[in-house]
Formats: sequence, C-alpha cells, structure tokens
Amino acid sequence: MAKSRVQFICQNCGSVHQRWAGKCDACGEWNTLVEEGTAGGIGSGPVNTRNARKGRAVVLTSLSGDIEDAPRIVSGIGELDRATGGGFVRGSALLVGGDPGIGKSTLLTQAAAALASKGHRIVYVSGEEAVAQIRLRAQRLGVASTPVELAAETNVEDILATISDGKRPDLVILDSIQTLWTDLADSAPGTVTQVRAAAQAMIRYAKSTGAAIVLVGHVTKEGQIAGPRVVEHMVDGVLYFEGEGNHHFRILRTVKNRFGPTDEIGVFEMSDKGLREVANPSELFLGERHAKSPGAAVFAGMEGTRPVLVEIQALVAPSSLGTPRRAVVGWDGARLSMVLAVLEAHCGVRFGQHDVYLNVAGGYRISEPAADLAVAAALVSSLTGLALPADCVYFGEISLSGAVRPVAHAQQRLKEAEKLGFGSAVLPLGSEEVVGGNGAGGIAAGAFQPTELSDLVARIAGSPRSRADEGE
Ligand code: TYD
Ligand code: MG
Repeated sequence: MAKSRVQFICQNCGSVHQRWAGKCDACGEWNTLVEEGTAGGIGSGPVNTRNARKGRAVVLTSLSGDIEDAPRIVSGIGELDRATGGGFVRGSALLVGGDPGIGKSTLLTQAAAALASKGHRIVYVSGEEAVAQIRLRAQRLGVASTPVELAAETNVEDILATISDGKRPDLVILDSIQTLWTDLADSAPGTVTQVRAAAQAMIRYAKSTGAAIVLVGHVTKEGQIAGPRVVEHMVDGVLYFEGEGNHHFRILRTVKNRFGPTDEIGVFEMSDKGLREVANPSELFLGERHAKSPGAAVFAGMEGTRPVLVEIQALVAPSSLGTPRRAVVGWDGARLSMVLAVLEAHCGVRFGQHDVYLNVAGGYRISEPAADLAVAAALVSSLTGLALPADCVYFGEISLSGAVRPVAHAQQRLKEAEKLGFGSAVLPLGSEEVVGGNGAGGIAAGAFQPTELSDLVARIAGSPRSRADEGE
C-alpha cells in the first residue's frame, strides 16, 4: 500500500529531502525546508488533502471550433519581441526587472496597448499606482482608447478570482511583484516569503490556463530582484530594463529565456510620449562623436545577433599622484589593466606616470573582449595626441603575449560599419575569408590586420603628424 509520503522541499534551491532538517544539504541555506505534499497533478504520489481546495468548473466545449492559438503573442513592438525571443509565450511567466523609474511600467503599458488593439485580452494589474495614475500615463502615451483591462489590486487571491472570470486573458501584467501578497503566507508584502508565494500562485495560474504573465520586479540596491534570486529561477524568462540616469536610451536585456536566445537586447529611447524603438542602435551610440579628437576609437561590437557600433573614449593625462588613477565607465576595470600591461610590456608604451580614464560613449556597457583592440587604439591615440582616422572601426581581442586574436562575427561587424559610412577597419588577421570574400566589399580594401599589438601602436605613432613625438 502506498504510504502517504511527505516531502520536504528546500525553498531556496528546490532540492527534495525525505526528512526535515534545519539546514539544506544541497545549498547550505538554513530554515528553508518546507513540508510539501505532491499535490498539483504532477507525479503519482498521494495528494496532501490539507491544502486541497474546491475544484472549479471548466467550460465544456465541442470538437469543432477555433484551433489552439499560436504559442506566442507578438506585440508588434519590434525591440520588445526581439528581447522576448519572438513574443510572449503562452503559459509562461516572464520577469521584467529594473531600477525604479527606468520605464518598466511605461514599456508594459505600451505593450499592453499594442496587444489589446490587436484583439488580445490583456489585464494590467497595478499594485503601485492608482487607476488614475495609470490612466494619466496611458493618455500621455496616446493609448487611452485601447481595450486594456485595468485594476489596482495587490491581493493574489482577488487577482486570480478577477482574471479567472470571463474569457481567459492572453496576457496578465502584474506591476509589481513586490507589492503582491497572498493569504497563504503571513509575512509582509515585499518579503521573500510573500514574493515567492505570490509569484508561485501566479505562475501556477499561467501554467494551468495558458495565459502569459509578466511580473515586474524592482531591482534592489545590490542589483538583485528582491528577494534574492527566488523569482528569477521560478520564471521562464528574465528581462532587465537598464539605462543610465542622464541618457535617454534604455536597453532591454535578456538574462534568462527558456524559449529563446539569452544574448539579445532591445534598444529604446525614452521620449515625452513614451518609449520609442531604436532600430539602429549604432547611430545612437555614435551620435556624440567629434571627428578630430585624439583618444576616440569606434568599436564594432556585437549584442547577441546584432552588431552595435560604439565609441570608446580614453583620456591619458600626466598624473600628480604617486599611484596614478585608473577609472573606467562602461567596461571592465581589470580588462583595462590588462590592456595597459600588454601595451607597457610588449609595445614600449608607458602609462606609469599617467592617469587613465576610459569611457564608453552614450552610457553603454561593453562585455566583449573584442573591444580590447579599440581600447588600446584609443589609449595610444590619447597618449600620443594623435587622432585616429575618423572613418575607421576597431575590433579584436588582445592576448597577454601581445598578439591580436580573431573574434567571431567579423563579417557582420564590417557590414554594419560599412552601412554607417566607415571606410576602413583594424581587425585581427585570420578573418581573411571575410575580407577577401563578398561580405564587406568597400571596407575590406581599407582593412589593416595586425598580428601583434605593437604593429598597431607603430601605425598610430607613425601616422602623419609626427613619429618622433612618441614611442613612449
Ligand atoms: P515608469 O514606467 O513609471 O518607471 P518604472 O515603472 O520602471 O518605475 O517611468 C518613469 C519615468 O519615465 C519617469 O521618470 C517619467 C518618464 N516618462 C517619460 O519620460 N515619458 C513618458 O512618456 C512616460 C510615460 C514616462
Ligand atoms: Mg512602475
């Protein structure tokens, strides 16, 4: 006879234990084991009747009729659909995180409006703002007349009762998860227990009905969505909405996606009428360029499947400090130290008496090592006071030995550069098939392919103005 089996599940890592313990063996967290039955229709274990609720009647239907909807709901906002991997997936939960005030509610209001006007049933539940505030935003966005269904509510049971009424919604937006609370947990809204319980209830709803849900989450000061990662691994996808305070552009970055690629970004610009799509981000990040100033190099980077051109600015100035300053915005500080060390050790360029400042234009963040070459070019250019050619792009990784190493997607990077009017490129050797091939015709003629970083340094230092000036 099957014995009623009770399991203890760690609420932090999800591992299953047969016996209760104060500490989870798997993840080492304390007080996270909670007794759970195997109810829910998954598995064959006996149902724990303690949490059982009265069943709800489902509508019986006939064999003929509409065929199952498409698995994805496409908003038509290209940059958003790109980040979600082709639209919101039915029956899935998506978390949209970001700093307060970055534009999460704006983005989702626009998405809701776009979807609702296509005939989808969209429910927008706000726990943070009153209905009047949301209406005001909708007016500002010019979408007040779209049939989005709106509620200001924070109790999960009430929300579920509301959305279960009538036709199943295609998309439910919960803004934000931190304000939700459920009767089943007795801690305050915003606590880990409440956030987890509320998210769980909503995810269960999504899975059982096939509605897509979007949870909005504020990022805490430490850069995490509260509570600590719990929601992140409960949901099917995580998008971060980021941007720099005094720049207007916003990047929607895919961090996790069970149904699509994770390295995509969507780029938006915040205007007075809401978020505007930026289909060509390169133009945005290159917008502030001054052609003739030393210390600026254009990096041909990749974001997911998309090439992005961005200007890298370096300022190398004599230092009055014993330990010169190194400051980086938008790139990895350790990586800068490495490039400086390689320049010193293999190219005879000395930075020991100089402060070094590095900035990526437009508040953009680069994570690719392919930016090494552009950074090195900008540094040498600033130190020597010799401006780099304005129509040249740079990419390539630098190894500790001073060699320039090839990087992926050379062809796409060159194509993008050519599209934006660049006439030459500095890139690693080993991309010949690209340069020789049909990929990027015009720019290939102007390509310089150093094997060693010192080749590039010599080329910059030997450029028109003077060569005696600096080898240093
Ligand atoms: P919001 O979507 O409320 O941010 P979040 O939900 O992430 O907290 O956006 C708030 C900011 O966006 C606010 O500073 C005002 C600005 N904004 C615009 O610049 N233009 C607009 O059309 C809208 C609706 C907001
Ligand atoms: Mg908001």
